[in-house]
Amino acid sequence: MKFVLALCFSLAMISAGAVQADAAAGQSAYAAKGCIGCHGAGGVSTVAANPTLKGQSADFVSKNLTDFRSGTRQNPIMNAMAAGLSDADIKNIADYIGSLK
Ligand code: HEC
Repeated sequence: MKFVLALCFSLAMISAGAVQADAAAGQSAYAAKGCIGCHGAGGVSTVAANPTLKGQSADFVSKNLTDFRSGTRQNPIMNAMAAGLSDADIKNIADYIGSLK
């Protein structure tokens, strides 16, 4: 029984670690891909034309980046920005934005 509990605990720690790793990778990508220049540090935009991302869910960010990349959602700036993102970039950035409190 103790072993089972220890195993459950380890698995919970491993999955929590994976989420944090994605958010950390997302934070790097958010800076490296230039998102930070328009959407601001910590996802808080200081320019009215650029939406603040902080407060959006990971699902929202992931869906909208996927839609910008495919052209389902049209915006010349974001269509160009999303074109340079891999599936992993989108997942990591979405996890990062979703983790901002
Ligand atoms: C040159 C400025 C600029 C850059 C760089 C930029 N964005 Fe945007 N982003 C915008 C604007 C403007 C909009 C609003 C588009 C619209 O009105 O449809 C937007 C919209 C979004 C949205 C949807 C927000 C909402 O409330 O609907 C997301 C998510 C997003 N950007 C993520 C990113 C990510 C991730 C990056 C980096 C890969 C990035 N943006 C880079 C200007 C920018």
